[in-house]
Amino acid sequence: MDFITYEVEGQVGIITINRPKALNALNSKVLEELDAALDAVDQDTIRCLILTGAGEKSFVAGADIGEMSTLTKAEGEAFGKKGNDIFRKLETFPLPVIAAINGFALGGGCELSMSCDIRICSDNAVFGQPEVGLGITPGFGGTQRLARLVSPGMAKQLIYTARNIKADEAYRIGLVNAVYTQEELLPAAKKMAAGIAKNAPIAVRNCKKAMNEGLQVDMDQAIVIEEKLFGDCFETHDQKEGMGAFLEKRKEKTFTNN
Ligand code: CAA
Repeated sequence: MDFITYEVEGQVGIITINRPKALNALNSKVLEELDAALDAVDQDTIRCLILTGAGEKSFVAGADIGEMSTLTKAEGEAFGKKGNDIFRKLETFPLPVIAAINGFALGGGCELSMSCDIRICSDNAVFGQPEVGLGITPGFGGTQRLARLVSPGMAKQLIYTARNIKADEAYRIGLVNAVYTQEELLPAAKKMAAGIAKNAPIAVRNCKKAMNEGLQVDMDQAIVIEEKLFGDCFETHDQKEGMGAFLEKRKEKTFTNN
């Protein structure tokens, strides 16, 4: 791959968007490689993913403006669908994904981070949806996910004004869970990922599914989704191991992803 690197550290996979000369902007090739990188993740051994950007300046500075500048209406719609399909794959990916946002997260970059389960950032991070200043709408889920993650009023303000915000404001409005120095960001993401990876993987996956799917429906339907996924855990080895360890007052647990 030219624009994506993938490393494995223990049970954690780290996907890096690697196009630093263009501040990791998302052209079609980057999107296709991200799609292929997700398909290649070994879901039997990997228990958490981290998504970050190469270099010290940018997570992802948006979709590639050069590539978009000549698109027709139909091509624009197709480009939006391409990004949306991949970001939705990421959002519904069975494993938890932590976005380690190490700088600019603008337009498609902010949207990419919002497709991850958890967002943490460095103190130089800048977030925004600058699209209306370019004559377009956010096209990779920004109008939908920002309004769901922060309040609809705040999302509308940020999108209509195209104003960028810094890490401290992103933290204040709940767009990111924590802010670190640049040096601390990746170690913090790895520590969080390791903390997730030590838990029963099927239970973690079912939690992701329950929250993602439950948030799309009303509470009566949502609790039924939870009940089903809760029940499924009782068929697993890892439920027996987790509860057995508690009852036997045993600290060591071996979760096998079964
Ligand atoms: N697309 C294509 N190239 C980009 C880019 C983007 N989104 N963002 C940065 N680059 C390129 C620049 O063109 C420049 O390339 P050259 O060296 O070849 O000229 C290189 O990255 C470095 O950028 P700058 O020189 O501009 O760096 P800077 O530090 O002065 O500014 C910045 C950084 C504020 C992020 C500025 O680059 C910028 O405003 N970028 C565009 C941000 C943006 O508008 N993103 C939204 C895109 S629209 C979108 O994403 C639609 C959607 O929802 C799908």
